Parts: sequence; C-alpha cells; structure tokens
Amino acid sequence: MKKVISILTLATLFGAVGAACAAEQGKLPRNYENWDKSKARVITDKKSMFYGIHYIYVNKKAMPTYKTGGANYPEGSRFIAVNYTIKDEGGKQVPGKKSMIVMMQRDKKAQETGGWHFVGFTPDGKPSGLDGKRDCFSCHEKDAKDRGFVLSRYADFK
Ligand code: HEC
Repeated sequence: MKKVISILTLATLFGAVGAACAAEQGKLPRNYENWDKSKARVITDKKSMFYGIHYIYVNKKAMPTYKTGGANYPEGSRFIAVNYTIKDEGGKQVPGKKSMIVMMQRDKKAQETGGWHFVGFTPDGKPSGLDGKRDCFSCHEKDAKDRGFVLSRYADFK
C-alpha cells in the first residue's frame, strides 16, 4: 500500500512539474512586483496603447544589460509594464484602475519577434490574446533595434 501511495505521489509531482514548465512560457510571473520598479510614467496621448500611467518592472537577469543600454539580453530576462488609467485627484494625475499588463520574456527561439516573447494580459493577469508579432513587435522593432528591442531607457527609470 505504501508503495502505491509513493508512486502516485511521484506521478502527481511529475505531472505538476511538467504542467508548470509548459505553462511557464508566457505566463505572468507571480513575484514580479518585487522586481526593480520604475517611477510612474505618464502617457497623455489618448491614441497610444500606453495611454495612462505605467510602471516598468525589470528582473535581475535583465538589469545589467538594461543599465548599459546593450542589446544582448541573457535568456530569462523579463520586462513587465503595468498600465493604469489616469485619475484626477485635485488637479494631480494619479493612477486609477489597472488597465493592462504587458510582458517581454527573452527566448532566443522566438526569432520572429527579435528573440522575445511579447505577451499581453488583462488587468487580472489572464492572457489577453494579443499577437506578439502583429500587435507588439512593430513599435519595438522600429525604435529600439540597437537596444535589443527594449524601448524604455534606464536613465528614465528612477
Ligand atoms: C504603439 C507602439 C507600441 C506597441 C504596439 C507596443 N509597445 Fe511596448 N512599449 C512601447 C513604448 C514606447 C515603451 C516604452 C515606455 C516607456 O518608456 O515608459 C514600451 C515598453 C514596453 C515594455 C517595457 C520594456 C521596454 O521595452 O521598455 C514591455 C514589456 C512592452 N512594451 C511590451 C509590449 C507588448 C507585450 C506589446 C503587445 C501586446 C507591446 N509592448 C506593444 C511601445 C509599444
């Protein structure tokens, strides 16, 4: 009986690990709010998809390259931008409701989009079905080719 249980436990464990690996790609990391966070960035152009107030989170793997403005980001580098609506608080612009989350995750296999997975999420972190090549890459490709397709700059970070 003991043996049966341990085999079942193992199977469950392996099952869980396998599922985690498959799902890790393009999934919003749980701990990203602990990463280095930019100051509030305000975009007042209503035509921009980033209209609102956003913060950029940068993980440890990406930070050294981000700091130097280089292009050779190591595998596993990640950027996440969280966007909020703009709320007027007595003439001051402050973040309102969370409106969108976007992520870039370094994976050299993602060659169509410059070696990054571009993923969009709803405010509660579910994939929003945007297509990285069609909906994301054009801007990043056009203006940030020499910086590994990362548009923001460390100089504006803090
Ligand atoms: C209209 C052009 C445009 C489109 C389309 C666009 N982005 Fe961006 N993205 C930007 C700009 C500009 C910034 C820099 C914002 C800043 O400096 O604060 C940025 C920044 C980011 C960042 C932070 C890292 C960086 O490059 O600075 C991520 C992550 C990101 N975008 C992901 C996405 C994803 C995912 C999509 C598609 C769902 C997308 N973007 C579509 C223009 C765009």
